[in-house]
Amino acid sequence: MPAGGDVVIVGAGVVGLSIAHALASEGLRPVVLDRRAPGREASWAGAGMIAPEAESPGVNPLVRLRTWSAQLYPVWAERLRQETGIDVGYRRSGGVDVALDEPECNALVQAAGAWRAWGVVHERLSPADFARVEPALGPDVRDAYFLPDRAQVRNPWLLRALAESVRRKGGSILAEMRVDRIVRAGTRALAVETRQGILACGELVIAAGAWTGPLLEGAGITLRTPPRRGQIVLLHDPARPLRRIIERGHNYLVPRDEGAILVGATDEDAGFDPRPSEAGYRALLEHAYRLCPVLKRAEILASWTGPRPGSIDARPSIGRAPGFENLIVASGHHRAGLQLAPATAELVAEIVLNRATSIPLEAFRLDRAPMVDEASNAFRS
Ligand code: GLY
Repeated sequence: MPAGGDVVIVGAGVVGLSIAHALASEGLRPVVLDRRAPGREASWAGAGMIAPEAESPGVNPLVRLRTWSAQLYPVWAERLRQETGIDVGYRRSGGVDVALDEPECNALVQAAGAWRAWGVVHERLSPADFARVEPALGPDVRDAYFLPDRAQVRNPWLLRALAESVRRKGGSILAEMRVDRIVRAGTRALAVETRQGILACGELVIAAGAWTGPLLEGAGITLRTPPRRGQIVLLHDPARPLRRIIERGHNYLVPRDEGAILVGATDEDAGFDPRPSEAGYRALLEHAYRLCPVLKRAEILASWTGPRPGSIDARPSIGRAPGFENLIVASGHHRAGLQLAPATAELVAEIVLNRATSIPLEAFRLDRAPMVDEASNAFRS
């Protein structure tokens, strides 16, 4: 068992590893623990979509967090490349948000109203223009908006680069190290108890995805992070029929450079059951073929799932746990963990280092009342 670091982080998903990366970049030596291998749960199952930044995010905390993350991504990608030699696959491939029926058209027009208000670059396409932007769109598409700044990252590459950078800076990542309990004395988290022993901590950060709520419960903190199973299907067509990320509500198609196409994603209340379902698989393929009939000729390679961490509302919980001096939580990112990880990490680093936070934390408090947030409807994946 290693000695506890300045900061112990529970959870080596994209949020935990990003926090470790941000802290290690400040000269700390975080120790990250994962119940399994790093980055193999929800972070592995996401498609790495990054919503475009808003030029005038105003005061909405979720829009600010998203925008900050979108701005950090190219900077982090370049820094990680220099530090580790790993390309994380950050690309501004652009995206097309589409609607196929009247309710979807109404929802899309509303989302576009929010983009306009926040200064998100977008262009409504006339049907004659659909093919200019994305030739693969099928005849069922009724309305489409082009978002040129939509970007993507290769999540497995990002996870590998983050872990490598943390290690090179002196941090540690310990796999197969399941934390069963937070050892508490009054207002301090003294240590975490694992099957391999007790690890003392200066600061303790819980970024354990859907496992966060149950772990905190043992320390007397209530936070709902229910698992929301996301299933994805991987297609491949070497002819690379898609250029853009295509989104239709919660469904999406994400084309990778070498001809892979990720088709996502279900959002199911299925506990921690990781098995892909036949129904999910069929629904995803049906959606893909309807959006882009040309995909019927693509090879179907695989399907897998991840347990996204739910929240009481559309926001993640980020900040110090009530009643504790040295326990910080970053979880509940639901469908947006990859998207929001860099800004979440910078916020947590600011908290650890006792700096003023760049975004007020009030909206992300663990003990907030659930909030209705129009920002969650503007980028639905
Ligand atoms: N952000 C994509 C997903 O959660 O499916």
